[in-house]
Amino acid sequence: MNVLTNEQLWRLAVTTLDNNWRQTTDGLGHTVPSRTLYPHQWSWDAGFIAIGLARIYPARGWRDLRSLFSAQWDDGRVPHIVFDWPDGQDDRYFPGPDFWRSSEILAAPPRAATSGIVQPPVHALAAWELYRHAADPAARAHAVERLHWLYPRLVAQQRYLSTRRNAGGAGLACIVHPWESGQDNSPAWDAALAAVPADSSLLDRYQRRDLAVSHESHRPTDADYSRYIAIAQAYRSYGYADNGPGERYPFLVECPAFNAILAGAEHALAELAPVVGADPGPHRERASQITETLVDRLFDPATGMFHARDLHTDQLTPVRTVGGLVPLILPELPDDQVKALLMEACSPRFGLTEQLSLPLPSYDLTAPDLDPVRYWRGPIWLNMNWLLWRGLREHGQPGFADALHRAMVDMVRGAGCFEYFHTYDGTGVGTAEFSWTASLTLDLLSEPE
Ligand code: DGY
Repeated sequence: MNVLTNEQLWRLAVTTLDNNWRQTTDGLGHTVPSRTLYPHQWSWDAGFIAIGLARIYPARGWRDLRSLFSAQWDDGRVPHIVFDWPDGQDDRYFPGPDFWRSSEILAAPPRAATSGIVQPPVHALAAWELYRHAADPAARAHAVERLHWLYPRLVAQQRYLSTRRNAGGAGLACIVHPWESGQDNSPAWDAALAAVPADSSLLDRYQRRDLAVSHESHRPTDADYSRYIAIAQAYRSYGYADNGPGERYPFLVECPAFNAILAGAEHALAELAPVVGADPGPHRERASQITETLVDRLFDPATGMFHARDLHTDQLTPVRTVGGLVPLILPELPDDQVKALLMEACSPRFGLTEQLSLPLPSYDLTAPDLDPVRYWRGPIWLNMNWLLWRGLREHGQPGFADALHRAMVDMVRGAGCFEYFHTYDGTGVGTAEFSWTASLTLDLLSEPE
């Protein structure tokens, strides 16, 4: 691919989002992450997509969020997939509606078939971006109207995650499946997953669809995939209930990036609350509490960064992954942790400098098992770097923030809107024409260094 000018890159990103828009039969419509690999609506993708749509088609951004939250369950959970084909006949994606069986769950919405797990709650931040970029009085009035519908649903999502998912009892949300982190097969989950038997017979029963549309070397291994199926089946077998004894859940982990985004959502809700006549105070209090607990429970002074805690063993995972840097987005992160995260980001493990040529990898560059092309085990992801860029700006680091901004835009300029990028040369890996890469590129181009 030729290196694109800013105008060409802008057009490529807009076209990618246009091509990935789906008009659905219920009249709502949404953007799919990718027409081949992820042909339905995904939760955290929808949030990142709306952030870019705020710059070009805000009404479509609000529609994406409306489509997702129309499939919210009665308990407040926002499912990680909303399926376009509720009857389960679609065989382009596994696990589909007939695997998750949301229609058998009372709390699930009748409107759409969904999965039963969640993803990081980036949607309040997306709503704030849509609201604050509303360009004229008509757009502002539309945003206010949309917010009156969305705000209580965002609050219900926060309540679900902060109460029903508080399995550790300290006030952080736990995840019950690696997919809930969004960083599916990150080495951060290896220790917790090792305790889950890899039953290869599950892959005789169920067929992976991802390998039909992407390269095997880019995707999670069969062993990990069979664990993903077993963990989802276990959660499904209890009707996706969150109030059982911990042993019910083969995987029970507190993820630093998920909880940083949870606290970030409370900050965004504090901005949005006055728009709908609500009190921002409780959101600010919860954001402070989550930030404090995150530091208490997931920061390791020995490594100078955040790590996932396995609730079955009460141990922090030893590996260093990009998710452990994400708490930098939090405005109230104490100075000691900010300094430590900056030092870690600038170490040879993540390679941040004011002259960096590529954004940060998903995994420690010095780890012997880094894989430069396999999903979350080394490649570069734009969404994680976009979060870190926001964190660097938040904490007064314009030199690093600008360098990271330049590296992100240049990487997409050279490779196109890929799902993720090779750790060492920034070439595109995974699926092409990936929506959040396109949308976050639009956000970056709209906000020059
Ligand atoms: C997948 O199918 O790989 C997704 O990331 C899980 O939702």
